[in-house]
Order: sequence, then structure tokens, then C-alpha cells
Amino acid sequence: MDKHAFYQLSVQCVEAEIDFVSETFQQLRGRDGVTLREDFCGTAQTSCEWVERDMAHISYAVDFDPLVLQWGEQNNVKRLTTEQQQRIKLLNSDVLTVKTPPMDMILAMNFSYFIFMSRVEMRHYFEAVYQSLVSDGVFFLDAFGGYEAAKELTEERECDGFTYIWDQAYFNPITSEMQCYIHFVTDEGIRMDRAFSYYWRLWTLPEITELLTEAGFQQVDVYWEGTDEDSGEGNNIYTPTRQGTADAGWICYIVAQR
Ligand SMILES: C[S@@+](CC[C@H](N)C(=O)[O-])C[C@H]1O[C@@H](n2cnc3c(N)ncnc32)[C@H](O)[C@@H]1O
Repeated sequence: MDKHAFYQLSVQCVEAEIDFVSETFQQLRGRDGVTLREDFCGTAQTSCEWVERDMAHISYAVDFDPLVLQWGEQNNVKRLTTEQQQRIKLLNSDVLTVKTPPMDMILAMNFSYFIFMSRVEMRHYFEAVYQSLVSDGVFFLDAFGGYEAAKELTEERECDGFTYIWDQAYFNPITSEMQCYIHFVTDEGIRMDRAFSYYWRLWTLPEITELLTEAGFQQVDVYWEGTDEDSGEGNNIYTPTRQGTADAGWICYIVAQR
């Protein structure tokens, strides 16, 4: 029963994430990205994937929780080669104040930046990211929404050896603040309730994209997922568009170019 191991197995797909950011950066900038900063890094799994991909790659992973960084160090960074370990830095810092060398890419994934509750706070974070990028740097975020995003509900998904439960426990329509939890139950019936807790604001895409523009980003695009013709489900291919679909639940990427 290790909540971080369960999280990595059920929530994250760092291979697809790194495929998306490296291909998109290359398409937009006509060069390969080298330096990547993973904000809200948790166990720093994405940073490990980045340094494993190429000998030139360098990663900074930022989280203000020393315990999750320690877990990432012991379980993810330690399994890299010594040479790869030298190209990754774990920083126990707040993303609002962290100081890093200018970065090609900065990532804020799994909606972690939704914890900023006001426009002022969110713009402050976006401005800090802008200042931390090289002149042709790119900021990658993801977002979720859809008409079920504001509903109080639970969703279960079977994983290998356990069940992942996403719990939208509380939503306040006046502030758009919501309380979400992740619970896990092993196949033997052992429960790990509220393994992760997120109190955050359900931001809309216009709010986020407008704030990124206010923070100085030259171009901000939403990359929407295509549909698999046979299954009618998402096909994991994200392309820039101005027209989405009114799905019950969607996840998309936002790409902000400095
Ligand atoms: C939802 S997890 C994200 C884990 C990982 N990035 C992913 O994609 O799944 C959010 C993480 O953000 C960290 N965090 C929240 N606010 C932060 C802040 N202001 N500065 C740094 N880390 C923060 C928490 O400690 C937690 O580990």
C-alpha cells in the first residue's frame, strides 16, 4: 500500500506527456528543447522520463512538499544511471518563488495550478513562469472541464491490483471552489481513503488563456483531443483548435509561447 506508487500507475502517463511536449516544442520552435522545469512535480516522474530520453536533456523538478520529493528521489531518481541523475535537480521550493536558470519548457500538469484561487494569484504564477523561460520558451499546462466537472460524483477505474476512485466531493458554484479526493482500494479490499486531497478552483479555459496573455505570453493555444472513429473515445492526439466539443468530461493541453 504505497499511495505514490498507486498514483503513478493510475494517474500519470509520463511517456505520452513527454512525447507531446517535445514534439510540440520542436514544431513551434524548429529546434529541440533541452531544459525542462516540472512545476508541482510530486514524485518527479516526468523529469526522470525527460533526462532518460536524451543525453543533452536537463530537468529541474519543483515541489514544496519535502516528503513527496524524498519518495521521488528514492524510487524514481535512484533507478536512473549516475550520469542521468546528474542532469536532474529536485528543488524543494514554492513554484511562485523558485529560482532556476532560463528554461526552454516549463510544465504544470495534472491541473496542479488550479490550487491558485484568485485571478491575482494565478497571474502572479504565470508571470513568474514567463520570467523563468528563455526568449523562445514554451509553457505547457493541462486543464479539465465539461458539464460533469462541476458535479458531485465519484468515478471508479480498475487498475492492475487495485481500484482508483476519483471523488468530486464538494462544489461551490458561487466561488467555483471544489474538494476532490483520490481513494484507492486493493483487490483484497483494503481501502486507502483520501490518499490525495485537492481543494482547488475549477477554472475555465477562457479564464486561463486570458490570464496567460495578461502575463505576457505572445500566443496561447488550446490543444484539443481528437476522436477515435471506431470507439467514439478520445484518440490521444491533441491539436490546436478554437472549437471544442461539449463533452461531459474533457482534458486538454494549453500551450503558451513566450
Ligand atoms: C496533483 S500533484 C501533481 C503531481 C504531478 N505533477 C503530476 O503531474 O501528476 C500536486 C503537487 O503540487 C505540489 N504543490 C502544490 N502547491 C505548490 C506550490 N505552490 N509550489 C510547489 N509545489 C506545490 C504538491 O505538494 C503536490 O505534490
